[in-house]
Amino acid sequence: MINATEVSVVNLIFLGPPGAGKGTQAQILAQRFGFRQLSTGDMLRANVAADTALGREAKPIMASGALVPDDLIVRMIEAEMGGSGELLFDGFPRTVEQARALDALLARKHASAVAVLFEVDRDVLVDRLTGRWTHLPSGRVYNERTAPPKVAGIDDVTGEPLVQRADDKAETIRTRLDVYDEQTKPLIAYYDDPADPRLVTVDALAPIETVTARLVALINDNGQAGR
Ligand code: AP5
Repeated sequence: MINATEVSVVNLIFLGPPGAGKGTQAQILAQRFGFRQLSTGDMLRANVAADTALGREAKPIMASGALVPDDLIVRMIEAEMGGSGELLFDGFPRTVEQARALDALLARKHASAVAVLFEVDRDVLVDRLTGRWTHLPSGRVYNERTAPPKVAGIDDVTGEPLVQRADDKAETIRTRLDVYDEQTKPLIAYYDDPADPRLVTVDALAPIETVTARLVALINDNGQAGR
C-alpha cells in the first residue's frame, strides 16, 4: 500500500492514447494524494449533460471522435486553474497549440509541470474501451473484465447507474486513436525537448496497482523538476 507521505507535490500532465488508463490513475492520485484532477473530457461531458452552449457545440465533435477546437478547450481549462493545490491535467493538452497555451498559463502562476506518457500497445485499447463502464457525474471508471464494480452496472460509491460512453464504439475508438496519432503524439517531442526535458514514461500495460506504484516513484524522482 502506498502512503501519502511518499509523494512529493508536483503539477502533472497525463499524456497517452484513449484507454491508456489516464482517468483511472488520475482518480487514484486525486483521491489518495489530493491532486486536483482537471479532465477536459469530464468537463465537456458535464457541459453536454447540462445542455450548455459549449456542450451543444462539443457533442457532435466528441461523438465523431475528433477534437474540440483549441480556443474552447483553453478557455475552459483557464477558468478551472485558479486556486491552490497541485494540478493533474488529464486529457489536456492534446495539441501543440494547447501545450503552448498551458505553458503560458502555468508561467503566469510561476509554476510548471511534468508530462507523464502512458505507453501502451494500440491493440489492447479497443478491448479496454469497449469493456469500460463510467459513472458520468464523477468520471469514475470500471472495466467489466479488468476492474469490475461490486454490482454490475452500479457505481460502488454512490449506488448510481453506470453507462457506456457514446464514443466507446469500436469504429469511433479507431477514429480517436488516429486523431491521437496525428494531433497528440507530437506532444511527446514537445515535452521531450533536449533543451528542457519534461517527459517521463510509464508502462501502462501493467496492472492498475503497478502503474500507480510506478507513478508515485516517478513523481518522487521528478518532484523537484516540476515545481
Ligand atoms: P477524454 O474523455 O479525455 O477521452 P480519452 O483521452 O479518449 O481518454 P479515455 O477517457 O478514453 O481513456 P483513459 O486513458 O482515461 O482510460 P481509462 O482510465 O478510462 O476525451 C473524450 C473526447 O472529448 C475526445 O475524443 C475529444 O472529442 C474531447 N476532448 C477531451 N479533451 C480534449 C482536449 N484537450 N482537446 C480537444 N478535445 C478534447 O481506462 C480505460 C479502461 O481501461 C477502463 O475500463 C479502465 O478500467 C481500464 N484500465 C485502466 N487501466 C488499466 C490497466 N492498467 N490494466 C487494465 N485495464 C485498465
